[in-house]
Amino acid sequence: MFSSLSGAVKKQPTLLGLIVLSGLAACTSQPSEPPQLGQAPLQDVLAALTPAEKVQLVVGMGFYPSGFPEGLLPPGNPGDRQVPEKVPGAAGRTHSIARLGIPSLTLSDGPAGVRIDPIRGQDSTKTYYATAFPVATLLASSWDTTLVRQVGVAFGSEVRNFGIDVLLAPGMNIHRNPLGGRNFEYYSEDPVVAGNVAAALVKGIQSNGVGTSIKHFALNNQEFNRMKLNSAVSERALREVYLKGFQIAVKKAEPWTVMSSYNRINGTYTSESPDLLTALLRQEWGFKGLVMTDWYGGQDAPAQLRAGNDLLMPGTYAQTQAIQAALKNGQLTTAQLDSNVVRVLRLVLQSPTFKGVKYTSQPALKADAAVARAAAAEGMVLLRNEANTLPLAAGRQVALFGNTSYNLIAGGTGSGDVNRAYTVSIAQGLAAAGFTVNGALNQTYTQYLNAEKAKLPKKKNLLAPAPIIAELAPTAALLQQQAKAAAVALLTLGRSAGEGGDRQVANDFTLTATEQALLKQVAAAFHAQGKKVVVVLNVGGVVEMASWRNQADAILLAWQPGQEGGHAVADVLGGKVNPSGKLATTFPMAYADVPYGSEFPGKLLPSGTGTSNSLMGKDSENSYREGIFVGYRFYNTFKVKPAYEFGYGQSYTTFTYGPLQLSAPTLQGQLTASLTVTNAGPVAGKEVVQLYVSAPKGVLDKPESELKAFAKTTLLAPGQAQTLTFTLTAADLASYDTTASAWVTDAGTYTVRASASSLATKQRTTFQVAQAVTTAKSRHLLAPKTPLAELKAPAAK
Ligand code: BGC
Repeated sequence: MFSSLSGAVKKQPTLLGLIVLSGLAACTSQPSEPPQLGQAPLQDVLAALTPAEKVQLVVGMGFYPSGFPEGLLPPGNPGDRQVPEKVPGAAGRTHSIARLGIPSLTLSDGPAGVRIDPIRGQDSTKTYYATAFPVATLLASSWDTTLVRQVGVAFGSEVRNFGIDVLLAPGMNIHRNPLGGRNFEYYSEDPVVAGNVAAALVKGIQSNGVGTSIKHFALNNQEFNRMKLNSAVSERALREVYLKGFQIAVKKAEPWTVMSSYNRINGTYTSESPDLLTALLRQEWGFKGLVMTDWYGGQDAPAQLRAGNDLLMPGTYAQTQAIQAALKNGQLTTAQLDSNVVRVLRLVLQSPTFKGVKYTSQPALKADAAVARAAAAEGMVLLRNEANTLPLAAGRQVALFGNTSYNLIAGGTGSGDVNRAYTVSIAQGLAAAGFTVNGALNQTYTQYLNAEKAKLPKKKNLLAPAPIIAELAPTAALLQQQAKAAAVALLTLGRSAGEGGDRQVANDFTLTATEQALLKQVAAAFHAQGKKVVVVLNVGGVVEMASWRNQADAILLAWQPGQEGGHAVADVLGGKVNPSGKLATTFPMAYADVPYGSEFPGKLLPSGTGTSNSLMGKDSENSYREGIFVGYRFYNTFKVKPAYEFGYGQSYTTFTYGPLQLSAPTLQGQLTASLTVTNAGPVAGKEVVQLYVSAPKGVLDKPESELKAFAKTTLLAPGQAQTLTFTLTAADLASYDTTASAWVTDAGTYTVRASASSLATKQRTTFQVAQAVTTAKSRHLLAPKTPLAELKAPAAK
């Protein structure tokens, strides 16, 4: 591979060339300058690096922020702890080798906004707040890749403006189970949505000349014992569900880097897996960038480098020692280390730091806030709207219940959190939109929340979960007074989660007893007055709704909408924005319906070792026994009716779908499907059209149908129509045949449906595949050690 680096082209010297060369020889007989990165050929820079310098380049500078729990820090050389910070609060840096012109790069979280310290040292005259954009799950619910790309452009401009080289985002693991602690950082239960939305964000961010790191590759679907967990999974489920989104993002957007995850897959740490990082990611998918570990991830530094994991972050003294020892005893070859180093150097060459890009640390916060607000409104999902409860008529008096009406949860905790200058609450948003919200109720909540906040223990560390304040229980008198005075009740229910722990069923997936009582009382008081009750869900993930939804006249799923959330909620409730979001993740009727939910997040292995610290964890295992039947692939194939299905979302208008027309009755190479969508209702709106395909019965079990493409219309005025066109290729239709190690598209009749949700088919037609096609060939990679007993599709009736 290094021949391509030298850039040397052998030619016969001319006479003039010989004269010049002899002159050069005279010069180079003097002690010469060491080769400089970017000026000298990369091969020469590589050759000039000492072995110790090479090791420095593949091990980060360390990360020892104040307040980080001592027990979680790896043993280190105390000298390591003096890491000079370029951007305080950034997650890590790479080493510089000044004599060769190699600068240090700065890497920073995270998926919803740049995560850095807002105050530097003692100086509070200047602040360094970043924009908190809506969380990933909300962005995916917009199903709007153009919008997500715009978010990326704004987001990336902050990355660049703060002097950061690589953003540690987007997160794009699959929502396998509603309790996954980091689901808010991820997009969807479906890889086509996750992959395309991630690709749009990556393109937007990288258009600023900064890098991204798609993470966590792969299977960080739970936080339980995350550094010691083994996920047992079939090759087919891996390829079709868990890796496909990454593959789409790599192909469409070429992220500069990929971050390997903490867990093992079928016994091997992802960061130590040549199958995953070299055979699949690089050789099969053609990834050209760098792979880094998650922070302190994996156990065997030389094995990580051998696997193709080029950069160990944040870097520890122990890793440096292990690599040096492996170089001496032959467990790591210089050629291997060189290929890791070359990828680090290529990343440096791309970076804004290397290019000398100037930065002000003053991003365009105002403009970016407007982007965050617009995006938040686009990804909110209207789940219920009985008798046109919404939109609310302008200027009405709204009685606001629920702590999170006043204290909006902008995003989740951990590295996905953002240090923002402010968060617009729903109370503030509604007031700014002209609704009346300031009364006795507002005062009662404000006093209560201030008093309760003062009692909260100080957050122990970055990864500690957000403390919860119990819901206020309003007195009967207050409820009566509000029900008489206000035009409508609005109750917000909030949930927070984050890295380091998964969610619980009781009091998290389900409502707490206090929340249930509050909803019951508010509904009784307002319904008795003939007034409506609106519930706003300020959550990062799925909650149980079937048991309580009938008490609400309307339900808006606002997700965790970022710092402008209150304005965006008001935009949707007031009808300034017609909701157009749809669920990218199923809301089941009950947790008991989640496939193998009782086995989530896994079990401790009896022989396992490790610490009881839940972050580091003990050896554990989680079997992905539902195989490919994840999310709607399960619910729809096994006919388990969810509370709200994948793809569901209402609007203030209605749409009609014209016939679905195919470019040909038989797929040859590719096929286009097009249809015209018309706004048949009274107000302007946008529709998300989803294209599902049901495959014929072949050798392999197939889900009832799978999403193959999606598109969102522009804002259509009443009566206006738009034609949408989708492309399908044989590869899009293929399933992974493990026995043949190949992607195969069966012959037969395929049904294609244009749908408003995974259960709401509007138009359907069929096409043929004349002959089975192998669209890609592979080999056994990441196979389970022992065969996994997986869920099988029900026998056809
Ligand atoms: C998280 C990553 C994050 C990294 C750096 C880890 O704990 O899992 O998502 O990018 O820390 O902060």
